[in-house]
Formats: sequence, structure tokens, C-alpha cells
Amino acid sequence: MSSLPQALSRRIEAVTGIDPELRPATKPQFGHFQSNVALRLAKTEGRPPREVAQRVVEQADLGDLCEPPEVAGPGFINLRLRTDVLARAATEVLTDPASGVPGGGGETVVIDYSAPNVAKQMHVGHLRSTIIGDCLTRVLRALGHTVVPQNHIGDWGRQFGMLVEQILAEGLDVAGLDLAGAEELYRRANAHFAADEAFADASRQRVVLLQSGDEQTLAIWRQLIDISLAGFRAAYERLGVLLTDADLAGESTYNDDLPAVVAELEESGAAVVDDGALVVFVEGFNAPMIVRKRDGGFGYSATDLAALRHRVRDLHADRILYVVGAEQTFHFNQVFAVARKAGFLPAEVRAEHVGYGMVLGSDGKRLRTRDGGTMKLADLLDAAEERAARPIALAAVKYADLSNSLVKDYVFDLDRMVQTTGDTGPYLQYAHARLCQLLRRAEAEGHPVSPSVTRLDEPAEQTLALLLTRFGEVVVEVGTSLQPHRLCSYLYELSGALSVFYEQCPVLKSEEDVRASRLALCTAVRDVLARGLDLLGIEAPERM
Ligand code: ARG
Repeated sequence: MSSLPQALSRRIEAVTGIDPELRPATKPQFGHFQSNVALRLAKTEGRPPREVAQRVVEQADLGDLCEPPEVAGPGFINLRLRTDVLARAATEVLTDPASGVPGGGGETVVIDYSAPNVAKQMHVGHLRSTIIGDCLTRVLRALGHTVVPQNHIGDWGRQFGMLVEQILAEGLDVAGLDLAGAEELYRRANAHFAADEAFADASRQRVVLLQSGDEQTLAIWRQLIDISLAGFRAAYERLGVLLTDADLAGESTYNDDLPAVVAELEESGAAVVDDGALVVFVEGFNAPMIVRKRDGGFGYSATDLAALRHRVRDLHADRILYVVGAEQTFHFNQVFAVARKAGFLPAEVRAEHVGYGMVLGSDGKRLRTRDGGTMKLADLLDAAEERAARPIALAAVKYADLSNSLVKDYVFDLDRMVQTTGDTGPYLQYAHARLCQLLRRAEAEGHPVSPSVTRLDEPAEQTLALLLTRFGEVVVEVGTSLQPHRLCSYLYELSGALSVFYEQCPVLKSEEDVRASRLALCTAVRDVLARGLDLLGIEAPERM
């Protein structure tokens, strides 16, 4: 199904030869869409714009879609859709189980998101990644793609040397720790490492033992992972996101692949030995990527190369998304460039870093707890739930995360976010709940809902109908641009149009056939709101 504006554009372009660039009309008296194509054409043709506009509207074959077009001002073309056309399009949204979202996307999309670190609590950055990744997973699945989430948890690295050593030094029973306890342990180990040279040496030795598969060391390492996973699971459950254990693919998963990655890098000539380290130089980067350090250890970059290679070869990704903070932009650009050079990332596979900004406190600095510590995910959700019931608190937090352009930092203003007015998650939930209430009343009073939208006499109804027909394109657009805020703005606009509709168009008190049609329109709006919120990962309660 092509959208109405697309159909109109094609008809006009058949006459003009150039894209009419239809824009939604700025005022209802201008109709539904406007085009400045005649002004642009007039320049190249050297004719008066109004004359060109007149010719375009006479020649374009629009009669089955529009009222007769008007030429306005210096030569704008104003288009008003016929209400029967609009009603049919709204009915299509009403009767389509997908509300106009086209399935049929056939790509395999790997999405790397959440990725917290073992023995540390999830912080605000991981919260953002989890919420954004969850939304993109839902959107791309709705578009018919196969999404493979990959939770690249930080479960390997030198820090485990000192963690294990500290556990042994204290004689600690790891099984009795929770994630917060593990984080305390982390702090003690760090302090110990800095203060005690012998401990530091032992920690470095312990890293070697871990890497060579020493049983006792591995057993403690696994315990640390288990308690961390329990904490992560609890956080995901609390957030209501789709991630499960099946999506776990932590850094350690790639250990066995690293020698093969190195061999391939050497064979292809992509990597060279530089001062004892194995590095890859790529053009446009001021520093090479260090694949293997002088001491033989592998770091974050090597693991990411191995992960990318796996995603292409074994998961058969057509597209790979990395939902990770904008501060890692250099890292990912370099990983992608090296992977292309090494042949791990063929030209037809797209790799995209979906970077996001920081969450700021009211002081404009990185969000902190009241005592100045880093803000944990749990602290933040606790604070939100102090102000509102759980589904509303979650909606507030998620919507705030998704409704800005992702790369922008945003100020975490809980008092504003939980309001049911303004551009907030709870406002959209409320719009949905109010519609549900209206439809419940209609049913209780025995009013039938028409199976199709039959009348759209009022401008407020037309605006709603027109917005409904755009839902599918907006979702497609988010799947391409990976900018959930476009869906947020759309739903906000729809809710705003709904308020205007309530003011101008009585529903239950109208004549029988008007009422039945308006109830159909309301049903379609309710469905689109519910589906749209679901794509954002936000619950749509039927009562509030
Ligand atoms: N664990 C990392 C962090 O907390 C994020 C990992 C992101 N994913 C990746 N493939 N590097 O910063």
C-alpha cells in the first residue's frame, strides 16, 4: 500500500518531472498538503509561477484523489484530499491487523545492545542502550525483519584477575553476594591493587591463570558471572524489555576465535607487528588498532573484531547495529574500517553505530545520585516510582530516553517526565486510556461501532484520519533512520489532534451514523496509539 502523499506526488511529478515535495499544510484553510513545485519550475522555465501552477493543476490527473486543487499566493499549490478517499484510507488502517505498518522486510539485523559489565551494576548508560535497543528490536521486527539481539556483556578482561585474587584473599563466598555486593568487592579490589604491590603482582598472575583455563580461577569467575546475570535479569524484568538469556553473547564467547582472527589478519596482510604488538593501520585514523598487546593479551577491540566476524559469518547479518554511547564512536568507526580491510565485513553488510548522548542532572552535569555517586539503574527507577505507579514511571523514563534525537544529551527531569500533560510518555498513555474509556462507555450504552470510517465532515476528523494514514511510513522511517524520536513526535501529534477532535466533535452525543463513524475513527486511533507505544516498549494501560 503506498501512502496518499506518495500517490499524489507521483501524479504531479508525471507533469512536472521533478519531485513536488509535498508538505503538510500549515493551516486547515490551505487543505491537506502544499507544494512549491511551481515556484521552482518557474525559475527554470522563466514563466510566472502562478501561470506554471495553473498549468500543473490543470494537467495533473488528481480528480479521483483530491478536490480541485487551488493556486494560492505567489504560486503555491494547495491540495485537499476527497473525504471519501481519506475515509477509505482510515478504514484500511482500522481493518489492517498491523495498522498500516508494512511487514515484508527480509533482512537479518543483529542488534548489539544493553551490554552491562560483570560485577558492576547497570548504570544510566546501559539503561539508555537497553531501552533504545529494545525499541529498535520491536520496530524492525514489526517491519518483518529477523532481529538477533546480542547482549555483549563485559565478562572478560584483566579486572577479573584482581577480583578473583581479592575473593581468595578475603576467603569470601561469592555465591552469597548480590550485584551490589560484587560492586563493593570491585571497589575493595581496586584499592588493594593500588596500595599493595604484591597483590597487584598476584592479580596479574591470576589473569594468566584465568586465560590458561585454571579450574579454580574459572570456577570463581563463573560464580561472578552467575550473580551478575541474576542482577541483570532482574533489571530487564523490571524494565519490561524483550532481552533474554538466549541473547547473551559476552566478550568471553569470542576467546576461542581470537587466534583465528589473528591468523586471518596476518595472512591478509591487514595486521603488522609494531613494537611487539599486533596492530592494524587504517586510513583516516590517527592511531592504529591494537589487536594483540605486547604481553600477548587481547583487548576490547580484538573481541569486537571477532564478534563482528561471527555476526557476518555465522549469524548471516545483513545489517549490524551497535547501540552504544557516543563516546565510543571512534572505537566503532575503527572496528568497522579494520573489519572491512580484513575482509570480515563485506561491502553489502551494513554496520552502524547507534550512538547516544549522556543523561544529565538538573545541574547540566552527568546524572549522579544525591551523595554524588554514579546513578545506578535501580536508583533511577526507584526515584521514578516514588512519583508514579510502575507502568507510568517506566513510560516516563523510556519516553524521555527515546523522544530526543539520540545523540543529544538530555536533562533528566523526573517531575516533568511523569506529568500527564506535555510531550511525555504518561500523556500518550493517558490519551490511550481515555479512548478506551470512551469506547467502553459506547459499548455500555449499546452504541454500535461502524466497521468502516464513513464520514469525515469536520476538519478535526480529517486531521486525525490523515495522521492515521501516516503511521506506517513513520515506522518505516524509524527502521531506516534508527531515530525513535520520530515515532514519539508522531504519537504526540496524534494525541494532540485527538484533543482537538474531542473539543470539536462530540462522539456519544452525535447522530447515529456520525457516532458510529466517529467510534470507528476512535478505534483506529486507539489501535495506532497502542501499537505505537508497544513499539517504543511502553505499556498502554486501558485505565489510568
Ligand atoms: N560493555 C561495554 C560498556 O559498558 C559496552 C559494549 C558494547 N558493545 C560492543 N560490542 N562493544 O561500555
